[in-house]
Amino acid sequence: MRKPIIAGNWKMHKGIEETRQLLRELKDMEMSPEIEVVVCPPFTSLSEAAELLVGTAIGLGAQNMHWERSGAYTGEVSPCMLKEIGCKYVIIGHSERRQYFGETDEMVNFKVKSAFNHDLIPIVCVGENLEQRKNGETKSLVTNQVKKALEGLTEKQVERIVIAYEPIWAIGTGVSAKGEDANEVIKLIRDIIAGDFGKDISQKVRIQYGGSVKPGNIKEFMEQPEIDGALVGGASLKAVDFGAIVNYK
Ligand code: G3H
Repeated sequence: MRKPIIAGNWKMHKGIEETRQLLRELKDMEMSPEIEVVVCPPFTSLSEAAELLVGTAIGLGAQNMHWERSGAYTGEVSPCMLKEIGCKYVIIGHSERRQYFGETDEMVNFKVKSAFNHDLIPIVCVGENLEQRKNGETKSLVTNQVKKALEGLTEKQVERIVIAYEPIWAIGTGVSAKGEDANEVIKLIRDIIAGDFGKDISQKVRIQYGGSVKPGNIKEFMEQPEIDGALVGGASLKAVDFGAIVNYK
């Protein structure tokens, strides 16, 4: 019922020439029609990527945005600009934004609401760090992040949102979560949404796993009943790896 979505978050990688090369390689690959595929290049490569992706089934996303339409916010990019370029998705609240750039749950909520107001679909990231995990705080932390991110949204908005559960200790470390453990937290996220917005809505929300996803472990995640795709960092930078992840079956 939920179409799985696999998104590549290129983070601060790939200038324009490298973007051209990677997208040319991805376009030459057969991609499973059962999966919605999205790439999220850095801002400077978005225009180029948008042009190259015309006529393909690969969607375009950005990695961040400000919540205001325009204004004196040096260094920021607005939702209108992303929409104009051709983005469909925008990653919001990635742990690297929260950790290194001081993004709070309140800012995440502003951005999520603004994204919807500008017809962008947010991919909202949540997840605990190693210390929180060791202290048994995963459930309370994730519950809080999800509730705050979704505060004030309409049911129609919530059913379109994508959530990425990304345990911080699994990001870029090569140590992924176990499929069953990720499934348990993702089920919790779905239950929180069911509690706040109703079961029908919660059944429509796509929830990804992210953190050291590779061609060798994607199947373990995709086989879990609650996991609807992946947010892929490092392994999305090479067409051969990203293609193998999308075509895991
Ligand atoms: O947004 C993607 C995640 O941070 C995962 O990154 O696949 O390099 O661990 P990774």
